Amino acid sequence: MLGVKILFIALASRTVFATCPSYQCEIKGFPNQSTCLYLDNSTNINYVRPCKDNYACVSISSTFSECQYQSPYTPNTQVAGASCSYDQDCVSTNTCVNKICKGKPIYSNCLSHLDCDVGLYCYPGNMTCVNQLKKGYIGCMEDAHCVNDAGCQVFSSSNPQNNVCTEYFSLADYEVMIGCSQSGDINYLCKSGFCANVGTSVCHPAPESAKTTPVICLKDSYCLSKPIGASGMIFNTTCNCGFNDRSEMFCSLFPGDSVYNEYDSMVRDWIESDDILKCNTYGRFGAGCMKTHWSSSKYKEFTRKMYKAYNYAQIITTDDCMIEISFPEYFKALDTSSGAGFIFAALLGLSLV
Ligand SMILES: *[C@@H]1O[C@H](CO)[C@@H](O)[C@H](O)[C@H]1NC(C)=O
Ligand SMILES: *[C@@H]1O[C@H](CO)[C@@H](O)[C@H](O)[C@H]1NC(C)=O
Ligand SMILES: *[C@@H]1O[C@H](CO)[C@@H](O)[C@H](O)[C@H]1NC(C)=O
Ligand SMILES: *[C@@H]1O[C@H](CO)[C@@H](O)[C@H](O)[C@H]1NC(C)=O
Repeated sequence: MLGVKILFIALASRTVFATCPSYQCEIKGFPNQSTCLYLDNSTNINYVRPCKDNYACVSISSTFSECQYQSPYTPNTQVAGASCSYDQDCVSTNTCVNKICKGKPIYSNCLSHLDCDVGLYCYPGNMTCVNQLKKGYIGCMEDAHCVNDAGCQVFSSSNPQNNVCTEYFSLADYEVMIGCSQSGDINYLCKSGFCANVGTSVCHPAPESAKTTPVICLKDSYCLSKPIGASGMIFNTTCNCGFNDRSEMFCSLFPGDSVYNEYDSMVRDWIESDDILKCNTYGRFGAGCMKTHWSSSKYKEFTRKMYKAYNYAQIITTDDCMIEISFPEYFKALDTSSGAGFIFAALLGLSLV
């Protein structure tokens, strides 16, 4: 009986797994000296190899990528409070003063939060840089209106007088705020780091996987949490193609899973550090601020844990060469050199194809 069941699963696996591309690291046999990924039609395997020096693997089509020279410099990226050499390193109208970008002072005109110096935000009522709202103060519509270690607890999407700046990771389970979805969201205002709409939108205990991670899957319905919270809610994550040679799929992590918690605890460290207060309101979670004020080893540890938490399904069974071309920031954080770029945002969009 057991044998029959295992055979059945193996057959089912083969058909469904076949929808994921298969990747294999190779050195020889590439069509072109600058090719870093190509699909071999006869084997249906994507062969990959890392690019040399300052070249990055850029996707030309879903089955072909090429090594292209990485532009080593992007101007106007550093927010007020982050490091710089010249004005051109700094965002918008900021200038470089004593190697730190500086925004406009209080009561200056502004077009964006990025125009204002550390400790200020661009007040939408009169487009003027004013002091960020302190914890416990009303009047916010978004996190950027509050001091860097607090977010906007929204009770009304139209009236800021109903909303309050609340310390991150301070709200107990079942405290109310609007805007959480039925499927659950990461939310830094909640002590648990998670919220969900369970009839009302509330902070909620963070779900963890029902099965031991990594969980191999065929579709989203395999990726279920343990029952959690007062009403025993079951949440799900998504089933994603791993970047491996067996076309296997894995469930992405739940915010209560241990690998995710390693990242989450570093987010908490950053928020509790005074360093988060040293940058522009929009830069509170940016790589530029963290790199300027945290040690490079801590920054790297953060980057490593973040990539692993967000891209677990892709990374967990992947060869080094796939990591190197798909997640260069993560790869750099694994060895000794340092990385650049914006973190927190836009990570989930990273993929080969
Ligand atoms: C090699 O790559 C270049 C640049 O993409 C392309 O123009 C050329 O056709 C490729 N050659 C082969 C043999 O694929
Ligand atoms: C491989 O298959 C793709 C899609 O079917 C096709 O466009 C391409 O020309 C094929 N390449 C070779 C080398 O046969
Ligand atoms: C803009 O509004 C803020 C907050 O009400 C106030 O403190 C500031 O003086 C105003 N600035 C100007 C130029 O009116
Ligand atoms: C849960 O699974 C459904 C489909 O079964 C999917 O549409 C949804 O996005 C999944 N939820 C999350 C949080 O990934």
